[in-house]
Amino acid sequence: MTSTGVNLRVLVTGGAGFIGSHIVDAYVQAGHHVAVVDNLTTGRRDNVNSRAQFVCADIRDPSMDAVFQHGQFDVVNHHAAQIDLRRSVADPAHDAEVNIVGTLNLLECARRHGVQSVILASTGGAIYGDQAIYPTPESEAAHPQSPYGVAKLAIEHYLYYYRSVHGLRSVVLRYANVYGPRQDPFGEAGVVAIFIKRLLAGDRPIINGDGDQTRDFVFVDDVVQANLVALDYLLDGSGEADPLVVNIGTGEEVSVNRLFALLSEFLPSPPTSLYGPAKPGEQRRSVINPSYAKQTMGWEPRVGLEEGFRKTWDWFKVDSDHTRKPRMAAVPTQ
Ligand SMILES: NC(=O)c1ccc[n+]([C@@H]2O[C@H](COP(=O)([O-])OP(=O)(O)OC[C@H]3O[C@@H](n4cnc5c(N)ncnc54)[C@H](O)[C@@H]3O)[C@@H](O)[C@H]2O)c1
Repeated sequence: MTSTGVNLRVLVTGGAGFIGSHIVDAYVQAGHHVAVVDNLTTGRRDNVNSRAQFVCADIRDPSMDAVFQHGQFDVVNHHAAQIDLRRSVADPAHDAEVNIVGTLNLLECARRHGVQSVILASTGGAIYGDQAIYPTPESEAAHPQSPYGVAKLAIEHYLYYYRSVHGLRSVVLRYANVYGPRQDPFGEAGVVAIFIKRLLAGDRPIINGDGDQTRDFVFVDDVVQANLVALDYLLDGSGEADPLVVNIGTGEEVSVNRLFALLSEFLPSPPTSLYGPAKPGEQRRSVINPSYAKQTMGWEPRVGLEEGFRKTWDWFKVDSDHTRKPRMAAVPTQ
């Protein structure tokens, strides 16, 4: 239930994926009725909480209408996405097809079937582009450097339209680099998961370029908490901003070299770092300012880097490759 004791009917799209599945667990735990829509392109059926209803479907599919008709959802928490930044560069139309047109399909269903509010997983890593201010606040203009970032920004704009014309309320969560249990270590996504997997396998992860590029790493439990307080914000109705657009990050700028050093310390004899060529076009600095989320929703990150890395490390150690197989190629997310 929310902090005011209300049980909601919530649809979580992408609820078989890394972040979405943790949110489903927390919503179920809080007493909400949760349905999941996921086409399992990168998600896993075994990530989905057994107390949630699971619909294996594509968010672009016309069958979404029947899902909404049947579910009578109060809230849509939208995490399904094409999250592969490089794929978005190689095939911007496909990215837009999933991330923009697919989202519009959901928003139209929401409008037709009386959904009150939407929570959108947006990006703080890919939406701002190069900036003059670090940690970057929401007030800075967004200059996305990839079709993926452009699509997320477009969806944010659509949410203004749906609010002003159709009264659909929303909270937009611009995530930094999220890490934690269940993140895919096989693609090119989450650098934390990839580094941990290689270190646990006795290999040295390759650091692209000089390793001084920076990111803002936020632990998945903190992200889940943001999705819980976003429900309160929406239900309360007293929040001034609508859509509310907030950064969900730590404000702490961490270089890839430091990340490597911190993770290596979990091994009895830490390896030396191994460098490869820089990735063309890779953003040099990325760190976002989370103070507005605290001011508006009372959210702030609670899990420090060392604790979060340790929890993630321990999870990968237990989970190991025996139970999880590589999924489709992919996936740098920011
Ligand atoms: N991981 C991060 O650091 C990060 C940062 C910023 C934003 N985000 C956003 O958070 C959300 C979740 O990302 P994640 O890291 O958990 O990735 P993920 O790949 O684990 O989750 C995405 C889920 O969406 C599903 N999906 C993809 N296309 C679909 C479609 N057409 N129809 C139905 N389901 C579909 C996938 O199967 C998967 O389960 C995404 O919207 C992503 O853009 C993630």
